[in-house]
Amino acid sequence: MRAASAPGKAILLGEHFVVHGTGAILCAIGRRVRVTCSPLGGGAVRVRSAYGDGVAAASEAISSVPAHHRPVVQVAREAGGGLDVSVESDVPAGVGLGSSSACCVAAAGAILGGAAPGAPAAIAAALRAERTVFAAASGADTAACAAGGVISFSGGSHEACEAPARASLVVASTGRAHTTADVVASVRRRAESDAAAFGALRERVAGLVGDARAALRSGDLVALGRHMAENQECLARIGVSDAGIDRLVRAASAPSYGAKLTGAGRGGCVIALVDESNSARTLDAVRGAGAEAFESVMGARGLGA
Ligand code: PMV
Repeated sequence: MRAASAPGKAILLGEHFVVHGTGAILCAIGRRVRVTCSPLGGGAVRVRSAYGDGVAAASEAISSVPAHHRPVVQVAREAGGGLDVSVESDVPAGVGLGSSSACCVAAAGAILGGAAPGAPAAIAAALRAERTVFAAASGADTAACAAGGVISFSGGSHEACEAPARASLVVASTGRAHTTADVVASVRRRAESDAAAFGALRERVAGLVGDARAALRSGDLVALGRHMAENQECLARIGVSDAGIDRLVRAASAPSYGAKLTGAGRGGCVIALVDESNSARTLDAVRGAGAEAFESVMGARGLGA
């Protein structure tokens, strides 16, 4: 039997705009997906997960495999099929924390081997798998889940970022799941219908991503939080925030260094940048606003055992 695990992720800055060519900054969070696999007679792939227990015959078209298991089947087929694969996760699904990307990365590590953090072959296989369900995926999420730590992602590749060890994130859920592909498609329609306004926002976010990289390097959490809050304004302007997100951002803004949605938005989670001085107050504030919330390290280890 072979096993690997990968962390979920949060996007500190740049979601959506990264699909349209800006950079993004992401970190791995302290929740993980674990995948184990063992040989199975014949060429079929069996997948067991919280979504159920399914078998994809070798002859079945990948597009007709149920979406929740399709990426894992894709990875298993790249290894020749004939595998029994189990997925366990404590990353909440469909709320912007990269559960699907972490699953693709852990599957690539367990099934294809080479489970070194940032292994390019594992990242590439994970992205091919993710694109079987979300064709427009930028690749930022899979890179973050594979590499771990804090990364700067741009133009399909990434590099590790220095990050202050004292920084952490409060992650608060709106309790509403989203479908990333649908939100990304609606942003594309907006970008096409009002190219000038979207282009101006994209330039602003590109600048914020650069400023945030500098703030990370100098360990300036006040500046980093301010850039995250400005990024949230840009995300609201492209219509991916909603009342639930706005309520949690408002609650977290005063006690934390800065708060924003993470991932596709329209539901999902809000992240707030904190350290020891304000994490408890921020957790209280978002819980007081009705959210389930937890504190996470900012930059967990990537793909590994
Ligand atoms: O909500 P998530 O975890 O699927 O994150 C999506 C991030 C986007 O920037 C909206 C899409 C992408 O592929 O980068």
